[in-house]
Amino acid sequence: MTHSFSQPELFQPWNNACEHWLLNQATDLEQFFPADEELQENRDEEKRIADVALNGFISTAAIFGAIDIGLFESLESSPSQLDSLAQQLNVPTSHLNRLLLILQRLELVTLKSEKWRLQAPARRFFTPTAPTFEPYLWSRLAMTRQFLQNYATEWGDIMRGKRQFDELQWPPRNEQETRDFEHIMTAEAPYIAARLKPVIQEKPIKRLLDVAGGNGTIAALLAHQQSDLQVDVLNWPHVAPLITETAEKFHLTERVRPLPADFVDDYFPTDYDAVLFSRVLFNWPDEVVIKLLSKACHALKSEGRIMICERMKGPAEGVSRTWLTFMATSVNAQVFGRTPLRWIDLLDQAGFYNPRLEGDDSFEGYGVIQAFASPELNEAEQLRPSKKVYQNGDTVQVTVPPSPEGQTQYLGLRMPNRQTFILDQFNTLRPFDGVRLPAWKGGDVAMEQVILPNIPRGKYLLYYLYAPEDVKPMLAFEQWTLNVSMFRVN
Ligand SMILES: C[S@@+](CC[C@H](N)C(=O)[O-])C[C@H]1O[C@@H](n2cnc3c(N)ncnc32)[C@H](O)[C@@H]1O
Repeated sequence: MTHSFSQPELFQPWNNACEHWLLNQATDLEQFFPADEELQENRDEEKRIADVALNGFISTAAIFGAIDIGLFESLESSPSQLDSLAQQLNVPTSHLNRLLLILQRLELVTLKSEKWRLQAPARRFFTPTAPTFEPYLWSRLAMTRQFLQNYATEWGDIMRGKRQFDELQWPPRNEQETRDFEHIMTAEAPYIAARLKPVIQEKPIKRLLDVAGGNGTIAALLAHQQSDLQVDVLNWPHVAPLITETAEKFHLTERVRPLPADFVDDYFPTDYDAVLFSRVLFNWPDEVVIKLLSKACHALKSEGRIMICERMKGPAEGVSRTWLTFMATSVNAQVFGRTPLRWIDLLDQAGFYNPRLEGDDSFEGYGVIQAFASPELNEAEQLRPSKKVYQNGDTVQVTVPPSPEGQTQYLGLRMPNRQTFILDQFNTLRPFDGVRLPAWKGGDVAMEQVILPNIPRGKYLLYYLYAPEDVKPMLAFEQWTLNVSMFRVN
């Protein structure tokens, strides 16, 4: 579509279609309102697709309009009648009325006793002067606005990869480009540090390697929370000055230090209690990820663990939550979405044990995956084999922990050849097709099997997954808790 059409030209296809429809199909105007079921379905489809195509534009533009004229801030200070509000904001009453009616549908404002008032979400997300304001959406809105202002006429070229978002160079090649980039990352750093805090507290660590740790903000927040934690922040040499600045800002220069290196080409130092990859691995294909995870495994002490923080979303997540993915189309960055089972597989290939994954259903949706340098370190609820290693004639018995309240359990078994089966009843293995995931309906023993000579030798992974009862798990990875244990058959 070009944007050089005149107004009548723009509407020409629509007028032509109407004429065509009338002349060829409708002998009677009553046919516009048929009772026919099939036509009703078409109408529903029209409405659904119209919502898909236009909701975003209308609601985003209405919110920008309201922010720009100071509507939310004004209503935050006091509810107001239309006329006085229009006067105060210096906008025509008719325009303001339409805007308020749209915002009312979006449940951002409400009309009571002839006065317009803010609803709680408008305060929380769009009114920086409100005490309950939270900045989750604010920076995304600002970038969306920039995107619309500067690139709305160039979607095609952006999608063709011919045009990049000028404001953001990926990867940043020097200190200035890094400064332009890292402030976007640090906007969510407190959120990520808060997600990691309980994970770290569960088994405190003293030495942490934060691989590609941005400007050190996450490292500083973690070190601030734990007074004996030392963090080495590995990043390109041109990022080191930013990391030092962050450490100085938080008075943590002794404990938060830059480690200038290229994580792809350089080896990692060793003897760490934990290695963190936060929002790093999604940019890289599997073969590089396995290499990086293997390097992390070597960097750990024998009782050490890896922590991975990544967005982990199932297909049912709302379109608005793919914002980052969409924005990534405007920079030269690849995004590799991975399912939880794919993560488990990669960690297993890199030599880690007992992966654990905890999803996150919030807007940010950063799941945390942990895995261990040695077996036996994961204390989480998991499927328990009666032994770790079996020989011919032994009996494998696998027990199931009690179901957490309000959650449904799902059990799986990965064979040495990596084929995965779902266990939905005692000793019943069904091949996993990646789509259907039947829930566990058995008791506290999942399987009992005598090891016969024909049983494949090697490593078996046991998956113990639970998700809230009302959730379809294959559509909502963000709601998963998954713990993996293992046994071997020699
Ligand atoms: C998406 S940011 C994540 C930053 C931080 N971990 C966070 O969650 O806020 C990716 C980081 O990787 C760094 N980076 C990318 N490629 C790198 C490489 N080859 N070697 C070292 N650092 C790299 C960038 O400088 C940037 O700080």
